[in-house]
Amino acid sequence: MTESTPADFNNQFSVPGLRFEYGPGKLVRGVIDTPAARGEFYLNGAHVTAWQPAEHQPVLWMSAASNFAEGKPIRGGIPLCFPWFGPHADDPSLPAHGWARTSVWELSSAQPLKNQGISIVMTLTRSPYRLTYQVDFSSELHVRLLVETEDSAAAAGSSGILAIEEALHTYFTIGDIHQILIEGLESADFIDKVPEPHACNAVQAPIQFSGETDRVYQNTKSSCRLIDPVMHRMIIVDKSGSDTTVVWNPWIAKSARMADFGDHEWPGMVCIETANAGINKVQLKPGDRHEITATIRVQTIK
Ligand code: BG6
Repeated sequence: MTESTPADFNNQFSVPGLRFEYGPGKLVRGVIDTPAARGEFYLNGAHVTAWQPAEHQPVLWMSAASNFAEGKPIRGGIPLCFPWFGPHADDPSLPAHGWARTSVWELSSAQPLKNQGISIVMTLTRSPYRLTYQVDFSSELHVRLLVETEDSAAAAGSSGILAIEEALHTYFTIGDIHQILIEGLESADFIDKVPEPHACNAVQAPIQFSGETDRVYQNTKSSCRLIDPVMHRMIIVDKSGSDTTVVWNPWIAKSARMADFGDHEWPGMVCIETANAGINKVQLKPGDRHEITATIRVQTIK
């Protein structure tokens, strides 16, 4: 099959404010530019790499060292982790965070929204899963991953259950990691992965950063507020269908070890990941549907 070109997508999905072009690595990307927001997404990984609501600075962080190549994860934006989170539990040779972020997705629709935004739907079928990912670019960024399992007992194997993990692994641009606060996870117990995974009790205080941070907050449905006094803004992440929130900044040594992450970029980013992972794995039966969403908005603060 010949691969679709940006011109093919421009012909097929003709929506004012949306165009397709080749991005770095000759990957096809969609570019959104409407009065409500600018944005970008790639079919490689169904990866949202930019969102900037009108009258605000860009919200999503991208590494200048990111790979852009079919089959490789993009560093920044919103990688979609599925059907496992982190290293595969039984087979470390499998790619971290699953195969969804490195698969080429199909674009199934692009529609104007009433609020001057644009809604994109991308799909990926890989037995026993059918994934549908909707991204609404507007004054808010709304992302929704629907997971459907094949309606046959064989798909679920002898246990009859498919246990999945997933994450909307969102990277945010911040003024300075030393000065931000994250509120909303005060009462959640968590697994601290630094230096090795260990269980910790809730700390009853907002999160501040003074070193490598890699925490899996469990059994939490809470929204998060990222307060950034340097950029004078608060980013709010509301979620549904998610019981885990992961907070990550690699700090100095880990970013130096990652080839696709600039050595001096870590003070300008933080991840708040809307997820279901670890003890919050989702148990699906054949024919089940499960949905996880995140809605991100920005408010100016003094
Ligand atoms: C986070 C994990 O979600 O993703 C970290 O908690 C991991 O442990 C990070 O380092 C980045 O993962 P990757 O596979 O994109 O380098």
